[in-house]
Amino acid sequence: MPKVISGFSKLSKEDKIDWLAKNFFNNQNETINVIKQYWNDNSKLQQLHDDFIENTITNFYMPYGIAPNFIINNKEYVIPMVVEESSVVAAASLVAKFWSTRGGFKTTVISTTKIGQVHFMFAGNKKEITSYFNEQKSKLREVTSSITKNMEKRGGGILDIELIDKTKQLDNYYQLHVTFETKDSMGANFINSCLEAMANQFKRHDIEIVMSILSNYVPECIVKSEVSCLIPDLGGENPEKFAKKFEQAVKIAEIEPFRAVTHNKGIMNGIDAVVLATGNDFRAIEAGAHAYASKDGCYKSLTHCEVKNGIFKFWIEIPLAVGTVGGLTALHPMAKLSLDMLNRPSARELMEVMATAGLAQNFAALRALTTKGIQHGHMKMHLMNILNQLGATAEEKNTIAKKFENVTVSHSAVVEAFNKLRE
Ligand code: MEV
Repeated sequence: MPKVISGFSKLSKEDKIDWLAKNFFNNQNETINVIKQYWNDNSKLQQLHDDFIENTITNFYMPYGIAPNFIINNKEYVIPMVVEESSVVAAASLVAKFWSTRGGFKTTVISTTKIGQVHFMFAGNKKEITSYFNEQKSKLREVTSSITKNMEKRGGGILDIELIDKTKQLDNYYQLHVTFETKDSMGANFINSCLEAMANQFKRHDIEIVMSILSNYVPECIVKSEVSCLIPDLGGENPEKFAKKFEQAVKIAEIEPFRAVTHNKGIMNGIDAVVLATGNDFRAIEAGAHAYASKDGCYKSLTHCEVKNGIFKFWIEIPLAVGTVGGLTALHPMAKLSLDMLNRPSARELMEVMATAGLAQNFAALRALTTKGIQHGHMKMHLMNILNQLGATAEEKNTIAKKFENVTVSHSAVVEAFNKLRE
């Protein structure tokens, strides 16, 4: 019999945990202890987190790290990152330092327009719906005035409303395609409220509204971040060769989807970490970024590289719809702290920081992949994770790390070395 329960959300937190432990675990007491050990002693803080979602039973910790030495448009930043993958913050910090002595990162926000759509069905002729739309257009703005008032004061609001005919792709399907400027807020609630008000106004006996929702595809909310230097300034044994190989790695990701997906995953390692640390919506960012990577009909790299006239240039262009006000940004104390750390940036500035974190991460990955290989650095971090799991002391960690400097790290080899040392 499936374990179906009614009114679960109304149970107390304790009762929810008891029900869970009783029905889905054999070791009930241990389960309850694990869950409860992550409760925060500060009951006010715990309540705040409990209320973010439904049926909260505990908290799930993720490491919160910082990557110093980022110079973006000649300004110094320390970037907050929330991520579980061991090498991400270390890589960001290393690359930040590397580029800090080579002019730093240069960024530009190219556009900040967001999009929402009212999807509807109309079986009549196009002329009729077009003239109804033209008649309604100013009314559609009017009905949103109470919602847009504050946004307009901040310089944002509805930019345009268009009627789009999609009947060639799907019978009777039209859209109200609406563009927005949402300034420092991500704008999801604002956009959705405007769309629903418009849909309500647009309704007619022969118009069937299917849904009204923002789009997470934001190809007109784009930021660019770039690094460049003279090829010899790249340093290393053979900077010419490094630059060429690096460029080839990027060119491969520009034409080969299997590689491009992993390449872009590495970029998102950096971006998502900042998105999470600042209380933004990483699912929205992910969806938008990958859709943009496919905009030419083939999934491609989000970064690009040019080695020309003795200069190495590497850049990213990515859509990032983020906010620095509203949502979790003020509610979550750590998100607020992250934004304070970044000196209370505007949404535009945060786009620049995030794109830079993504570019830095991609630089680190490609530098490793085209030189020593990725496992070298990864395994060093992996070694520490294994030693932590084994409960090694600082001294033991040091000894074993030295042992593995030029030896391949594997779980069993580390356990063996650890046991030998303890003997
Ligand atoms: C791992 O999380 C990310 C990389 O695979 C990215 C890449 O291959 O470019 C190292």
